[in-house]
Amino acid sequence: MKKEEILLVDFGSQTCHLISRRFRELGIKVKIVDPEISLAAIKEISPVAIIFSGGPASVYVKDAPKITSQVFNLKIPILGICYGWQLIAYLLGGSVASGKKEYGPQELRIKNLELRIMKNLPKQFTVWLSHGDTVVKLPPGFEILGSTKDVKTTFTGDKKRKIYGLQFHPEVEHTEFGQQILKNFLTICGLKIKPHNLNLEKIISEIKKTVGKAKVIAAVSGGVDSTTAASLIVKAIGKNFIPVYIDNGLMRKGTKEEIKNIFKKIFKIKPIIVEAQELFLGKLKGVVNPEEKRKIIGKLYIDLFEKEAKKIKGAKFLAQGTIYSDVIESKGANKAAKIKSHHNVGGLPKKLGLKLLEPLRLFYKDEVRQIAKKLDLPASIINKQPFPGPGQAIRIIGEVTAERLAKQHQADKIVLEELKKVDLLEKVFQSFPIMTGIKSTAVKGDNRLYGEVVALRVYESLDVMTASWVKLPYEVLQKISSRIVNEISGISRVVYDITTKPPATMEWE
Ligand code: XMP
Repeated sequence: MKKEEILLVDFGSQTCHLISRRFRELGIKVKIVDPEISLAAIKEISPVAIIFSGGPASVYVKDAPKITSQVFNLKIPILGICYGWQLIAYLLGGSVASGKKEYGPQELRIKNLELRIMKNLPKQFTVWLSHGDTVVKLPPGFEILGSTKDVKTTFTGDKKRKIYGLQFHPEVEHTEFGQQILKNFLTICGLKIKPHNLNLEKIISEIKKTVGKAKVIAAVSGGVDSTTAASLIVKAIGKNFIPVYIDNGLMRKGTKEEIKNIFKKIFKIKPIIVEAQELFLGKLKGVVNPEEKRKIIGKLYIDLFEKEAKKIKGAKFLAQGTIYSDVIESKGANKAAKIKSHHNVGGLPKKLGLKLLEPLRLFYKDEVRQIAKKLDLPASIINKQPFPGPGQAIRIIGEVTAERLAKQHQADKIVLEELKKVDLLEKVFQSFPIMTGIKSTAVKGDNRLYGEVVALRVYESLDVMTASWVKLPYEVLQKISSRIVNEISGISRVVYDITTKPPATMEWE
């Protein structure tokens, strides 16, 4: 008898883990494998279905990741997503070419709603895409099941062989009915859907087992990730948990005070505070390259931690609130293209005297929020906007000087205040100004000013992999813009960023 397991072939997709998560949510076990997997190994696993992930390559270039075409002889249902679909077409005698590029949302029109794969779908809905290549000739046996305005082969299938191809990403949160499509595919494969729960007891007992009687020194930031991680660890090991906050001066104003409060109130633990604002600014002097900034901040951060850890007898672990999107966007899963190195995983020295403890490493942001809720953490923590480790440094394009940092802090405070006033602060995923480093002309009083342009980025996202900008009311935009140019000296103009992710990342650097 076949195991209730599906195989996910990773062709280097940024969302490979997200695909597996979507199936995990439906109670289906997923095994992620590389394209080089042999036919014998696939037979041995004997999966109920195979998913081909997306990936950054073009099928027609040399060295593009491929899987043995004999996989189609196994008569196992296959679902190809983006590159995965293009590869199906390529291997089965269709053709792929560089075509109409679609990045972000598009409307998908379904041809025939009667099909099983279309169960509970409407005639038209929004899907998210991120592709430059397109299938221009279908392989024999395939038909078009749905299309976007510019691309005919967006949703395709060979019903007889149970092979389906999607040019869009059903796994991302911004694709409507994505989960329904995956459910329909699983049903066609004969699988039973049994939604899963987050199991806190299991996470806590694993921490206990890993740590034993050792002490854990924890990097805390007051954000939902590190506070949730802290809460889980406290539940597992109690007072052997020692939180440390490194004040690098790059976090939001008031963070330090907030952290002291949270730890005193919720955990009855006094955090160690390391004052290092001047140190960070000094190291960032003259640095303009974003990756270099991240590396410098990450290295100093870890160095300071090591120093602190050495003072604590019995400290064996360094806990961090790293979550899955930090991991995947930093080093990628196998073949994924590297986008940015996030300091909490990228800059870590190989010979760190401490072991890493990252209990949230396999969870997405919205799952972390669910865990925080289950742990009864206050709403102000659960709904808090995430804030990047390198903080304001990556929101100041170019050199981070004390003067520009002060302006950034001021602008940031204004954005937060104005969104809070209209009750939008906790509803958006992130909202922040960017010191763009671009200069433009303004007239303030009777004086001409050639000052810096501030950009405003406010967007919605659930899982960090996709995002759309928030259609803020004009009055709110006006208020923020007026306050920034009036209250902060040297700022000439405010512009609003209206780019989705993909293609643009959330942060500018
Ligand atoms: P991007 O800009 O990659 O951001 O779309 C995705 C999410 O990650 C945050 N971010 C960072 N977090 N270190 C962090 O800890 C970093 O270097 C970093 N860069 C981006 C970003 O704020 C967003 O939530």
